[in-house]
Amino acid sequence: MVETTQLVRGTKDLVDIELYRLQYIQKKSREIAQYYGFISLETPLFEFSKTFTKTLGEDSDIITKEMYSFLDKNGQSLTLRPEFTAPVARALLCGSLSAYTLPLKVFTTGAVFRYERPQKGRQRQFHQINYEVLGEAHPASDIEIIALAQHILHALDINTTTLKINSLANTQVRKDYRGALVTYFTRFMHDLSPENKLRLQRNPLRILDAKNDREIIANAPVITDFYTQEARDVLTYICNGLNELNIEYVVDPLLVRGLDYYTATVFEFVAPTLGAQNTLLAGGRYNDLIANMGGKATPAIGFAGGIERLALLCDCQVVPYKRIALIPLGARAELYAMQLAYQLRKNNFYIDFLHGASLKKRLKNAEKAVAALIFGEKEMNEGCVSVKDMNSGTQSKVSCTQITEYMYSLVENFDNKKQ
Ligand code: HAM
Repeated sequence: MVETTQLVRGTKDLVDIELYRLQYIQKKSREIAQYYGFISLETPLFEFSKTFTKTLGEDSDIITKEMYSFLDKNGQSLTLRPEFTAPVARALLCGSLSAYTLPLKVFTTGAVFRYERPQKGRQRQFHQINYEVLGEAHPASDIEIIALAQHILHALDINTTTLKINSLANTQVRKDYRGALVTYFTRFMHDLSPENKLRLQRNPLRILDAKNDREIIANAPVITDFYTQEARDVLTYICNGLNELNIEYVVDPLLVRGLDYYTATVFEFVAPTLGAQNTLLAGGRYNDLIANMGGKATPAIGFAGGIERLALLCDCQVVPYKRIALIPLGARAELYAMQLAYQLRKNNFYIDFLHGASLKKRLKNAEKAVAALIFGEKEMNEGCVSVKDMNSGTQSKVSCTQITEYMYSLVENFDNKKQ
């Protein structure tokens, strides 16, 4: 019976604080997206498999081993989205965004699915925040999108990251560079891992992204040596813009990223404290993707962030309410206290109704609450409530007509309470 009660590996139930934290990151990220002029889009959880197989790169890890694909009852091959960039491009091409003109900025967030080996910061179902700027070629938008990524990290109070940036220049530069990589890695043919040997034949740039053979990779030729003057100038322009904004970065000429659609700028924000899975936000330019999907030539740039990874570093205050325990004493008070609870809940108080057990047990249960409201025959007759401040231990009688006001003054953080 294991299958009926077990969680699928790499998935998890999000309980209370964990869920609030995820939603907080989504809310904050959407809010910041709006400051930058992004519209919001929600794409379906699954797409035709081709939306991904034709776009992400046939040798990419996602396509070769990580997709959740299945045939539906009609025999059509569908795939649970492993990322958002291809679905956003598909939304543009199928007319969902026809009310808008380019350039267009699009924000998406939600669950994504990849069949990867689970570990800290790596799941099979996880969540992304995702930003795409469609139809803008000017490198100022590269600076703006990196500044936006930095803004999000700051807003989540994540300040210990390193920004790595590189440019994959253009098709001709990548072609020349690929040739140099083949020459270099062929010299180490016998030392390379079987995976990298295969990459050498199919897509040598992908070796640079591999976790193994790092010593060999460290001395590989760098793309910078193959740049045209224009590619060099664009990267310099972007770096100057980042300097102007005081955004620290390192140019990493071996940074290629794991998806084939990237064409020029690529970048990632890593958090060294997170261990092996330390990339928080990552993205780049993909100027050919939309044309390759059958659309007009549409330059674009974007990035995505893993919410679970951000949540590991974001110590956000997400408990929206302060708990107040309500302790009715006796059958009549039990019913009447319902009215009191309703009145307070309408005023945004979190009321934990404690039924049944002895007063002592219920007060013990209320230890972590802001206050315990004790309500028995005596209080009913007097039209009041006994309020025990659980912090100071003092108890006072408060008239039922003034209880809301009184509780506001007792619960110190009024703003949190209203969220
Ligand atoms: P990606 O680098 O594949 O890029 O994923 C973006 C982020 O998602 C990663 O940096 C990481 O934070 C998170 N992530 C990836 N895999 C997992 C996992 N298995 N578990 C938890 N978090 C994970 C993309 O998805 C591109 N679509 C980004 C992009 C947008 N490029 C241009 N526009």
